[in-house]
Amino acid sequence: MQNFQFVNPTKIIFGNGEIVQLAKQIPTTSKVLILYGGGSVKKTGLLESIKAVLTDFQVGEFGGIEPNPTYETLMKAVEIIRKEKYDFLLAVGGGSVIDGTKFIAAAALFTKDDPWKFIVEGLPISAALPFGTVLTLPATGSEMNNGAVITRKELQAKIPFMSAKVFPQFSILDPVYTYTLPKKQIANGVVDAFIHVMEQYLTYPIASKVQDRFSEGLLLTLVEEGPKALQDPENYDVRANLMWTATLALNGLIGSGVPQDWSTHMVGHEITALYGLDHAQTLAIVLPSMLEVMKAEKLEKLLQYGERIWNLSTDLAPDEKSALAIEKTRDFFEAMGVKTRLADYGLGKDVIEKIIASLESHGMVKLGEKGTVTPDVVRQVLKLSL
Ligand code: NZQ
Ligand code: ZN
Repeated sequence: MQNFQFVNPTKIIFGNGEIVQLAKQIPTTSKVLILYGGGSVKKTGLLESIKAVLTDFQVGEFGGIEPNPTYETLMKAVEIIRKEKYDFLLAVGGGSVIDGTKFIAAAALFTKDDPWKFIVEGLPISAALPFGTVLTLPATGSEMNNGAVITRKELQAKIPFMSAKVFPQFSILDPVYTYTLPKKQIANGVVDAFIHVMEQYLTYPIASKVQDRFSEGLLLTLVEEGPKALQDPENYDVRANLMWTATLALNGLIGSGVPQDWSTHMVGHEITALYGLDHAQTLAIVLPSMLEVMKAEKLEKLLQYGERIWNLSTDLAPDEKSALAIEKTRDFFEAMGVKTRLADYGLGKDVIEKIIASLESHGMVKLGEKGTVTPDVVRQVLKLSL
């Protein structure tokens, strides 16, 4: 196991009805800005119930944060916050609203330069406004981590940033809020969480028994509960398990002390930025082919994964077992209703060089746990994904 430090300061408040805890989490003198997406929180009534809990606070609203949140939209919130002096933010939504709120929280206090620079130039973030979240979509883990992915539309760029200053102070996770999700979003969430685990688990052995067993527990839960969540949308226990699994898949725990890959995510971000596919759709396209192309480097973990997640017999030859493990992975995404081929989304081979040019322009030329996923490797991966 590698040396590591692990800190996660986000308080999780989990369970049905726990929104009643909200007011107690926010300093009493705060001026609170509630941030949300395209309007699902209005339709479901969640926004109203949150406002009802916050009657003792000065409260404002900023809606319209889009899936794959854009710098262009987020900077409008930054202007309002600076002008009207909000000092606490509350994100209500999925990964996009929470990621957007992280950017806004840091950008509002970053007055010396264009906040885009802390994304592309890595300028240090020395402070951010405090914020909490009310999660409505289990998928990204953003509710309990310090990462965010921001899109700049005019540049067709979708780029992640991380900062210790953007951990949420608290996140309220009520599985009942996920009942209204369209099937497509549940499926996306299961696939995204699954691939978060894979990016941290499916690398090479490093005697990380605890991390491996935690990861395998999360993967098995997704395989077992994912299909049930599609069939039985109001099954509380299923939704509760999915919600907690997605959070644990990317809150730093399983990634501590182990090598991490993330090549599938970086390629996926370029596909979303160029062609607008959902985040999870891009991952479902890239991961099976990435495993195929990188199978020599990943072989030992691929075999362990095949045996422990897909019950493949230990007697199978390594070639056959790794091929089956990859096939089962693809089949699982397809069974969840997330298509795994570029062609399924109307994309042909002409997109390959554009995706690679974008990766190169963002300096993403040595990806993967060993830095061996070069543009040439990505080219092979994308050809296999057609
Ligand atoms: O915008 P509204 O109207 O709220 O509708 C949303 C949106 O259209 C809808 N939705 C959310 N909760 C709902 C609901 N509809 C009905 N009922 C509910 N309870 O779902 C749609 C998708 O929402 P979005 O927030 O975009 O989805 P998700 O949570 O999958 O987030 C995706 C974003 O997170 C980033 C992705 O790149 C993408 O931009 N990621 C963030 C990560 C992180 N911070 O650690 C890691 C991930 O790998 C990922 O990259
Ligand atoms: Zn993801």
